[in-house]
Amino acid sequence: MPEPQTPPPHVVVLFGATGDLAKRKLFPALYRLASCDWLPEAYAVIGSGRHSPGTDDEFRTQVREGLDEFAFDDEEPDTDALDALIERVSFQTASADDGADLGAAVEKAEKELAEQAGCDVGDVRRLVYLSVPPSAMKDMIAMLDREGLTDRARLVVEKPFGLDLASAEELDAALLDVVDEDQVFRIDHFLGKEAVQNILALRFANGLFEPAWNRHSIASVQIDVPEKLTVEGRGSFYESTGCLRDMISTHLCQLMGFVAMEDPGAFEAKAVRDTKSALFADVRPLDPARVVLGQYDGYRDEEDVDDDSDVETFVAAEVFIDNDRWEGVPFLLRTGKALAEGRRTITLRFRDPESDMFDEPACGNELVLELTDDPEITVDLRAKRPGPSFDITMGTMDLKISERSPEAFPLEAYERLLLDVLRDDQTLFTRSDEVERLWEVCQPVLDDRPEVHAYEKGSWGPDAALELVPGGWRLGG
Ligand code: BG6
Repeated sequence: MPEPQTPPPHVVVLFGATGDLAKRKLFPALYRLASCDWLPEAYAVIGSGRHSPGTDDEFRTQVREGLDEFAFDDEEPDTDALDALIERVSFQTASADDGADLGAAVEKAEKELAEQAGCDVGDVRRLVYLSVPPSAMKDMIAMLDREGLTDRARLVVEKPFGLDLASAEELDAALLDVVDEDQVFRIDHFLGKEAVQNILALRFANGLFEPAWNRHSIASVQIDVPEKLTVEGRGSFYESTGCLRDMISTHLCQLMGFVAMEDPGAFEAKAVRDTKSALFADVRPLDPARVVLGQYDGYRDEEDVDDDSDVETFVAAEVFIDNDRWEGVPFLLRTGKALAEGRRTITLRFRDPESDMFDEPACGNELVLELTDDPEITVDLRAKRPGPSFDITMGTMDLKISERSPEAFPLEAYERLLLDVLRDDQTLFTRSDEVERLWEVCQPVLDDRPEVHAYEKGSWGPDAALELVPGGWRLGG
């Protein structure tokens, strides 16, 4: 197992600590890092939120139950790591109006950690995870500043970052008023996925692909993230965001960034973010006429959803990148809830070669990246059908990466990203210029919303989205 450098002592403050993200992802990630000995030797986790879950012990029981449900899969828990983590957990209520008790709790924890680690209090770092809605973010930041909690802090800000360009700019101004950009970790958990980072390895480590990665060889790119799950339990979040903000301006555009960016030259924060940002500057703002919005039947019956809600749960969009590499190549982005399958699939469709040997290609020539926890790369190739005639058939080259590296140690996205914050590495976090540009790209659709088409649960979304892709979507047809 690789040995990342042990991070310095930390107080981790989790806003939204009784929420779904903390239960499903953040505490399980902390447990896994604890079980690998990748957490700091001295650390404390202070859960926070407006409503108290009871005493510290009651909160600890709640965290333990959440871990039982989401952290161990079929494995036996590492009880030493689990107990050590739980012992360091406490809860302190706080709100945007009143953070005094939280400030005091952080100070107290810091003194104890400094004693334990034999260091100055000033050497204890703060990781403040803001899992709060965009509308609440600015006031929370002001509170952190008032309580002196931004010093030595790394602020992790959950997506979506603002709700449009103007609110993202306001949020950035509020943040940069109290901290420096190198203290801000805007999280988009797709970037923590092994398979997404693998896009860069595939492109820039292979002489087979890199020279073909452009408009001369590639006819179109599909970035397809259908989800089977509905918005059940997240009605109020969805009503205030919708699918465009939840998935397109964030996850899918970031995937497009990894697929389309130039060679950053190094896997390090400045290089990767400068290069991705340069790419986003060339992305043409969306044309509402080439965007299809949908809402699944039954969405309006979900809890906390308006009876006549017009919020989209599905988006398909055609995007162009106006640079030399990609001029004229459509990037087709699609995602939605309550669809037929749950997949994260990137398909690069190659152009047909200019040869007169074959009348008409019998099948596609595509490179397909399945961005699962167990990443898989497939290439659909044409080959000669064995026999006396010269016919073409299709063959598939398939690479299941984990089968090739059984000793590898993949990290789940939040595990990787929390570790990166502790290590102070911003490579896989988005920068303000990227985020603001992506709002500019999406703004025409926010300003001039296309009609929202109804679609059946378990389908592939509205028919209009099928028509967006001349050769058809790879998934679902
Ligand atoms: C979240 C979105 O950021 O990502 C959800 O808010 C979505 O709506 C989820 O379902 C998908 O993430 P993953 O890792 O399960 O593919």
